Amino acid sequence: MFAGGGYPENVILAIETSCDETAAAVVAPVEGGSPGHVRVLSNVVSSQIEIHRRFGGVVPEVASRAHLDALEAVVGEALDTAGVNPDELTAVAATQGPGLIGALLVGVSAAKSLALAWNVPYVGVNHMEGHLFATFLEKPDMPLPFVVLLVSGGHTMIVQVRGFGDYRLMGATVDDAAGEAFDKVARYLGLGYPGGPVIDRLAQDGDPTAVRFPRGMLQQGLEFSFSGMKTAVINYVRRHPETSNEDLAASFQAAVVDVLVTKTLRAAKKSGARGAAIGGGVAANSQLRTQFAEACEAAGLDYLVPDRSFCTDNAAMIGAAGLWRLQHDGPTGFDGGAIPSLALVSP
Ligand code: KG4
Ligand code: ZN
Repeated sequence: MFAGGGYPENVILAIETSCDETAAAVVAPVEGGSPGHVRVLSNVVSSQIEIHRRFGGVVPEVASRAHLDALEAVVGEALDTAGVNPDELTAVAATQGPGLIGALLVGVSAAKSLALAWNVPYVGVNHMEGHLFATFLEKPDMPLPFVVLLVSGGHTMIVQVRGFGDYRLMGATVDDAAGEAFDKVARYLGLGYPGGPVIDRLAQDGDPTAVRFPRGMLQQGLEFSFSGMKTAVINYVRRHPETSNEDLAASFQAAVVDVLVTKTLRAAKKSGARGAAIGGGVAANSQLRTQFAEACEAAGLDYLVPDRSFCTDNAAMIGAAGLWRLQHDGPTGFDGGAIPSLALVSP
């Protein structure tokens, strides 16, 4: 515990700018609750998707500038909605990594400046620990140990959560992240950016058994490989250009989801987990949500499929993880910078 026994009256402002969402939230701990149990007083997200769409993907320099433009208003709205004055805050948190360096720097610099101006501690938060803490936003009593599948645009990993801050990496992707595979397949098919939501939508009208795409490394282990699946889609389209995008989307999505669910359940079994959860942008995928829930029920596991707004990037999850970090480690030094390749756990 942080010397002094933590902050009993915490109300924390959290800022998230690691990629293409400018987000701010105000959260407060629930008295007597577990360390991850917080009340979300506000959760504001301003998406840059429209700005990046015409480029077909996130342009880092454009992202940094858009964060700069949006951040003041987003923070103001988060404080207003929460009904909290700056002088009632006990800390300001920001995502310090992983993410795009320029984008991260906007949030980190703003959080440090505000913390200095308001004379409260600054807390740097790991973005992936934020996605993990999204579990506790809705299920603070998640039984330990549990496994969480973290699937985003930059990461795909299965983490065993043995306690707060006590994580073990059970498996990760050896090549592309799952979200990256969705985005690349969508770009190849000319479906636009970001690919995940478009493929999800098209798949609703497609046949998931139309094409049997390879399920990379399905049979064994807890590692993932998605680049072969992406190449398989490209090769198939070259040979069968008449296939509908709906069938391609549904078949590709089925392959990705099969692997994600199979491996997460395998990890749960292997580690004797009492529960399982999913998190990160790809956890917003309809097929993954349904199939994961069914598999957990069949296995008798306590599980959580978080609300979509807590799967994609948001600052409420950063606030929850930030509160825990503040209580556990104390404030982050003002010399703590942005760390683009910050790891959650070492392999
Ligand atoms: O966690 P996130 O919002 O940002 C990162 O930290 O990367 O994840 C973004 C990723 C993108 O690759 C996007 O295509 C994917 O999540 N995604 C989805 C869906 N919604 C977002 N993938 C599949 N189905 C969805 N519905
Ligand atoms: Zn994310």
